[in-house]
Amino acid sequence: TPDPAIRDWSLAPGAIRPRRLRPTPAMRRLVAETRLHPAELVLPMFVKEGAAEPVPLQSMPGVVQHTLDSLVEAARDAVDAGVGGLMIFGVPEQRDETGSGATDPDGILNVALRRLRDELGDETVLMSDLCLDEFTSHGHCGVLDEQGRVDNDATLARYADMAVAQAKAGAHIVAPSGMMDGQVGVIRRALDEAGYPDIAILAYAVKYASAAYGPFREAVESTLQGDRRTYQQDGANRVEALREVQLDLAEGADMVMVKPALPYLDIVRDVREAVDVPVAAYQISGEMAMIEAAAANGWIDHDAMMLEALTSIRRAGAQIILTYYAVQVARLLQAR
Ligand code: PBG
Repeated sequence: TPDPAIRDWSLAPGAIRPRRLRPTPAMRRLVAETRLHPAELVLPMFVKEGAAEPVPLQSMPGVVQHTLDSLVEAARDAVDAGVGGLMIFGVPEQRDETGSGATDPDGILNVALRRLRDELGDETVLMSDLCLDEFTSHGHCGVLDEQGRVDNDATLARYADMAVAQAKAGAHIVAPSGMMDGQVGVIRRALDEAGYPDIAILAYAVKYASAAYGPFREAVESTLQGDRRTYQQDGANRVEALREVQLDLAEGADMVMVKPALPYLDIVRDVREAVDVPVAAYQISGEMAMIEAAAANGWIDHDAMMLEALTSIRRAGAQIILTYYAVQVARLLQAR
């Protein structure tokens, strides 16, 4: 007769131990559910018209306003590090009411896109910020009406022209970030009518009016007075984010973005579960600045915090991450 003890498959108290899968770096690496890969990182870059030398940014250590030449060099480095794409922002010398530099083929952003496309061809994915705020004298993302309010529909006409100018200059993807109603639809139609049906749209579909854009505004020398609360979303709202996403997809967005990233991971997850297109998240300038400032004070470990933040954004459901750390992280991942 079999020993009854052998038939007893019930576990002894304390036999289930999750720590068994955490003893060594190799074991933890084996069971990791989320991995960062350079190909899913996009590097935002700034190019400054008329700059003779790259200009370092105080609030974003390691980030500069590039000259055209240093932009090309840094873009090449990013491509060599395996980074998946580049998002280009222009800093013009002159600004005016309607942001005419944005649609001028000789405007800094369009010149930079042309240079990058000439030098890099299809080796990387070239994206352009499609917004007027860097080009307007008042710093708003659109043109103003007589009362000084941002005029949605008048702005759409400017975005349509801007999209065509950027496509002509060599962008693979245009990324409207101004949060005007109808912007994706108008841009899609303009691109198609101008003969660019293959240029994709990455919609900044969900963009919250955040306190963490401050360092970016130094980077583009923003002239904005006041805030963007009449067009960017209220951070209190979750359901509204899905409405913005649905509208952008209905208007022809190929990918959607949530921005900022870390304070809005619940939204990233919501969007990931709601749509069947790639979801991006933007780790914005202030998210970086917080890590940099704390690390500079010796209060947190820089690389550990950087990787933890990005891993969390990835885990929440972002398949593509825009981050000023793209090259740094790509190199760190390569070294491991
Ligand atoms: C608009 C735009 C902004 C950012 C990306 N595109 C600024 C804003 O909405 O005020 C912010 C990016 C960052 O903070 O890193 N052109």
